[in-house]
Amino acid sequence: MTQNQLDKKSEAWSALFSEPMSDLVKRYTSSVSFDQRLWQADIEGSLAHAGMLAAQKIISTQDHAAIEGGMKQIRDEIESGAFEWKLDLEDVHLNIEARLTQLVGDAGKRLHTGRSRNDQVATDVRLWLRSEIDLIDGLLASLQKALVDIAEQNVEVILPGFTHLQVAQPVSFGHHMLAYVEMFARDAERMADVRKRVNRLPLGAAALAGTSYPLDREMVAKTLGMDGVCQNSLDAVSDRDFAIEFTAAASLAMIHISRFSEELILWMSQNFGFIQIADRFTTGSSIMPQKKNPDVPELARGKTGRVVGHLMGLLTLMKGQPLAYNKDNQEDKEPLFDTVDTLKDTLRIFAEMAGGITVRPEAMEKAALRGYATATDLADYMVKKGLPFRDAHEAVAHAVKAAIAHQVDLSELPLKVLQEFNPKIEKDVYEVLSLRGSLNARNILGGTAPAQVRAQIARHRARLG
Ligand code: ARG
Repeated sequence: MTQNQLDKKSEAWSALFSEPMSDLVKRYTSSVSFDQRLWQADIEGSLAHAGMLAAQKIISTQDHAAIEGGMKQIRDEIESGAFEWKLDLEDVHLNIEARLTQLVGDAGKRLHTGRSRNDQVATDVRLWLRSEIDLIDGLLASLQKALVDIAEQNVEVILPGFTHLQVAQPVSFGHHMLAYVEMFARDAERMADVRKRVNRLPLGAAALAGTSYPLDREMVAKTLGMDGVCQNSLDAVSDRDFAIEFTAAASLAMIHISRFSEELILWMSQNFGFIQIADRFTTGSSIMPQKKNPDVPELARGKTGRVVGHLMGLLTLMKGQPLAYNKDNQEDKEPLFDTVDTLKDTLRIFAEMAGGITVRPEAMEKAALRGYATATDLADYMVKKGLPFRDAHEAVAHAVKAAIAHQVDLSELPLKVLQEFNPKIEKDVYEVLSLRGSLNARNILGGTAPAQVRAQIARHRARLG
């Protein structure tokens, strides 16, 4: 094959093809515009394959050295921007291989021995995704640390805890932040678990059936730092579960971000006024001069839909595919890339934004006082005095009704009035009826008492390093 032919994909296949592709079909079938970002993984995979081919004496050591030299130059060219990506060469794999052959001649043509683009692309995507997962792991840790920091600064700050968005019981703002730390910790666990299945080697499956060359697949896996080898060649080339699992884990992480965003948006609205986020994460309005809009959390909430959409796209991509590789699989890349980009940017920006949250403890406390948040504490107090819980619940309902009628908090009802609902109530009830008393009382593992929150902070700090 001449160099000129190698530059043209339609002619690179074989002599079998009697007519060239139209420009439209070329554009439709090519992936180089987006899969070129796999170039490092592609070179790494090729070098591992070439090293093994030489060790198995399938290619000569001279050819191996030539391939290494050529790849080094290609790496430099791509890094400096000098590399010329050709649409005619369809994808990242053919582009790099053609350039290698241009540089080192026959040695370049021997690289593809015992390999197909089917096992090559599956390997490249896995290598690329593995390094992205490692970056995401670091970003999830930074976000958790930022949240633990705000939790620590606000252990004693009292927030009305809500159920049904109705004031329920007072909670520590720090405790509330740590709820998100739990979510992002689970996301990190899930990513670590997905990584195990990402980090397996398809190479050696060749097109679909394996190859007749005596390849050492375990050696390639070891060179690439992979945990094992895909054990069925048909599955190896066609499996995209790892991409789906990753996107599912990413979707869940985005959903956690989205829930947090929703709270930030509510909290910074005039009706709550609980927090302020730093100006650099907000924007103004072109018509209403008084506005400061929470654009960053709103966009994150919106981008969550986009990532969940990618998950649906990937699931649907796979549902009708017979074994083994089908060109459909080329469509796995854009959703996967966009999922990674969106998640990384979002995690990064939220770690920064968390550090810029200003808390308004007075506003939170005022809101907690408005909602009879210590009613459960009054019921618990009566239970401790011997009343069955259901009766205490009913008695407190009457007390709340009275407080509403007088437009006062439970803690503002005189002892005499309280005793009408249960004669066993004594003066010490006022300790229980305060927000702080309520908070301190929930001193149980996982509860909101400051002592418990501090213990959790210490646990997270030790875990996060
Ligand atoms: N660009 C292709 C993809 O992303 C590479 C594999 C092509 N294999 C094939 N038999 N056409 O899936």
